[in-house]
Amino acid sequence: MNYEDNGFIKRVETDLVKYKCMISAIEVYQLFCYAKKIPKYGVYLEMGSMYGGSLYYARKAIEIARSKAQLISIEVNPQQELIDMIDGHDPVVTLIRGRVENILPLIKDNSIDLIFHDTDIGGNFLKQIIYHCGRILKKEGILIGHDYLKNKDRGFIETKQAVDEFFSGKVRLIEGTILYIASKKEIISAEKVLK
Ligand SMILES: C[S@@+](CC[C@H](N)C(=O)[O-])C[C@H]1O[C@@H](n2cnc3c(N)ncnc32)[C@H](O)[C@@H]1O
Repeated sequence: MNYEDNGFIKRVETDLVKYKCMISAIEVYQLFCYAKKIPKYGVYLEMGSMYGGSLYYARKAIEIARSKAQLISIEVNPQQELIDMIDGHDPVVTLIRGRVENILPLIKDNSIDLIFHDTDIGGNFLKQIIYHCGRILKKEGILIGHDYLKNKDRGFIETKQAVDEFFSGKVRLIEGTILYIASKKEIISAEKVLK
């Protein structure tokens, strides 16, 4: 693979697709491992897919696990690489073009196994998104979110702030990454504290 100095994968070239991935190699690995554990006929939801890099790996994990899970991507501005990857007739990926804040409230309670959130949204909007994640996740479901940074290096300080506030500072991170992780149970109990 081709890495940038900061560890992000620059471009992945396989026999199938050529596209950019916006998360680091270790984050790809972690996401892959969680996606592989999705139960049979489960559902993976990704918010923010851009070129399709992270979605590609989740899809690969599901393919390898043979779980026959479905993938849903909510993306306001899908790039051509993502559109080409799905090509209008991918049987396991559904691309919803739109804003997560409009689409999430329409998703049924207890319907999703794994959520990957990567839209760069922070502040109160992010708290609303986490709330909806708690609602739509199945009992054993998991949310993984990107961009939990401890400093202003890349301008995502609002993400950290919103996540800290939502979970009253009790945030679980995946080691070696800027991914935060929470089960449905953790989201629901955090949300009760907030009320
Ligand atoms: C960092 S990129 C996602 C990268 C991708 N997950 C990957 O690792 O390859 C963030 C994406 O979120 C999308 N986005 C930002 N705000 C959004 C919103 N409110 N609803 C849906 N998508 C949004 C942007 O268009 C952008 O493509």
